[in-house]
Amino acid sequence: MLAPYTEAAEGGPLLALGARSLALFDAFVNGIEADSRVAVGYERSGTLHVARAEQTLAHFASMHEGLAQLGVPSELLSPAAAHAYEPNLTADIFGGLLLPTQGLISAPGLTQAMVDAAQRRGAMLRPQANATRIRRSGARVAIDTDHGTIEADAVVLACGAWSGQVDVEGASGAVPVRPVRGQLLHLGWHGPHVARITWDEHCYLVPWRDGTLLVGATVEDAGFEEQTTVAGVRQLLEAVCDLLPNASRATLLSARVGLRPGSPDPLPIIGWSEAVPGLMYATGHYRNGVLLAPLTAHLVADAIVDGRIDDALAVTSPARFGLL
Ligand code: GLY
Repeated sequence: MLAPYTEAAEGGPLLALGARSLALFDAFVNGIEADSRVAVGYERSGTLHVARAEQTLAHFASMHEGLAQLGVPSELLSPAAAHAYEPNLTADIFGGLLLPTQGLISAPGLTQAMVDAAQRRGAMLRPQANATRIRRSGARVAIDTDHGTIEADAVVLACGAWSGQVDVEGASGAVPVRPVRGQLLHLGWHGPHVARITWDEHCYLVPWRDGTLLVGATVEDAGFEEQTTVAGVRQLLEAVCDLLPNASRATLLSARVGLRPGSPDPLPIIGWSEAVPGLMYATGHYRNGVLLAPLTAHLVADAIVDGRIDDALAVTSPARFGLL
């Protein structure tokens, strides 16, 4: 989901980062599709937020006002207007909020296209090499893996939820990233087409171009247990059937799970290491790894290639968590 105005509705630096990254997406996707010749699956079809409780309407009204001040279009909806946008909705709603400029992208499609584009530009993948330690090696940086050592002028530590498991020589501790489990359902949808991301207080729905529907997501502290559970699947099934009664006719294609890289504050951890010169962190993106990908790519590449330190790095610096 490319939804900074929802994910960071409280404002602050995360909203600024998300909005800036969203604005980069058209060019980012065009570049990757041109390099990879893979169609990513990206659309700015908007997001529809549905109030299932009366008090949610006050939150929508304040979001609408805040968005207007930022110049971001949104539309407050009566229950009838929300139904006109999404006829699959239950009758049991109090109203809605439409944000027409948010959107969605296929995360597997984007990942595949990025791998392809990188390889066409000369990148080599070593999928079996598990990085265990990063250290100085003269003027260079060395990565010890369980399949030998790799040396480079610059290294980016971008290991998602597993970032804290790579030992960084001279750091005061591990980068403070913890796994936050998210379970999702993938449904074969048989009702009328769901036109855009639809959200209520209990779940979100992402309609894929192939006509299937993704339902997310749990937010769980379960360590590195990358498994779906009966409780997680039940929670999502109940939530989607409650929001879209037609969901009871859908087929259950799969239950999926991922580990989000949570940081102690809501901000990602992007910037140079103080412990190992030449090492840069790009991790801790929590719920917004895909949304923040183009901005993160620019921040990291500009710093490494051109020595340019963007103002955004002031709020994402790893130094806020000690000598890293
Ligand atoms: N980006 C949505 C989630 O993490 O569930």
